[in-house]
Amino acid sequence: MNGSVTVPSPGASRSEPDGHSPLPQGEGRVRDFTRPSFGQTMRPDTWWVQPLLVFVGLSTFIVYSTWAAFQGTHYYFGNYVSPFYSPEIFGNSPHAWFGGKPSWWPGWLLFSPALFILWAPGGFRLTCYYYRGAYYKAFWADPPACTVGEPRKTYLGERSFPLIMQNVHRYFMYVAIVFIGILAYDVWKAVHFFDPVTGRDSFGIGIGTIVLAINVYLLGGYTFGCHSLRHLIGGFRDQLAGSKPAFAAYRCVTCLNSRHMMWAWMSLFWVGFTDLYVRFCSMGVWHDVRIF
Ligand code: FES
Repeated sequence: MNGSVTVPSPGASRSEPDGHSPLPQGEGRVRDFTRPSFGQTMRPDTWWVQPLLVFVGLSTFIVYSTWAAFQGTHYYFGNYVSPFYSPEIFGNSPHAWFGGKPSWWPGWLLFSPALFILWAPGGFRLTCYYYRGAYYKAFWADPPACTVGEPRKTYLGERSFPLIMQNVHRYFMYVAIVFIGILAYDVWKAVHFFDPVTGRDSFGIGIGTIVLAINVYLLGGYTFGCHSLRHLIGGFRDQLAGSKPAFAAYRCVTCLNSRHMMWAWMSLFWVGFTDLYVRFCSMGVWHDVRIF
């Protein structure tokens, strides 16, 4: 709000001409409500810490995941496969669904199995309601924090191009749920170790199995607490309690949704760590320990 307004002296009031509401009486004080300049605020707390942490955390993840996605190597180790590369639609590992690099792939274009699939989890995160609020503040100070002056003077919201595109989130959610199923299947594969003596698979659990299982658990907590999923499950009814299964599902999603930020960060960190774990095992930097 620009300009200035007159506010009443404490305790002073009288009736408006129409006799409905009080008006200031006597001398009013003039208070300046000029729009604060960029970064200006009356907040006494360290409001800048959170956007700074978001900036550092997201930047680190974006740099690492982009680097890892373009490597195209060291993304699997025996029965373990990195979540950045799963599902492996085309690729040279035993986990690939349809064989190696397709013949139609342009020779001049770098090939990596991750490039076929990372648009889905990437788009899901990018359009997430929580992350939107976080990176609007951290990356383009819109605003830097609540009640802190921002650099621009107009507000278009998410009802015009390009931010209206964020509404595609609900469709990314459907794909993300499918991915949870695929990553759960990767955990199933991660408990089947090839035995070179017998030439057959045998049941077992390694550190990598646990790393992959935690990854699915955290990604599941993030995905099934999605605001769009909560709307989907809770929508179309005036009274949820009328259907016990629907009400139970809604409460479950609501429970996860109430900690959506926590699930978002924990799953983000762990999915990056899972790739790193598989990568380092494949490179021989770390040695996977078989628990049994
Ligand atoms: Fe965050 Fe849907 S709102 S994943």
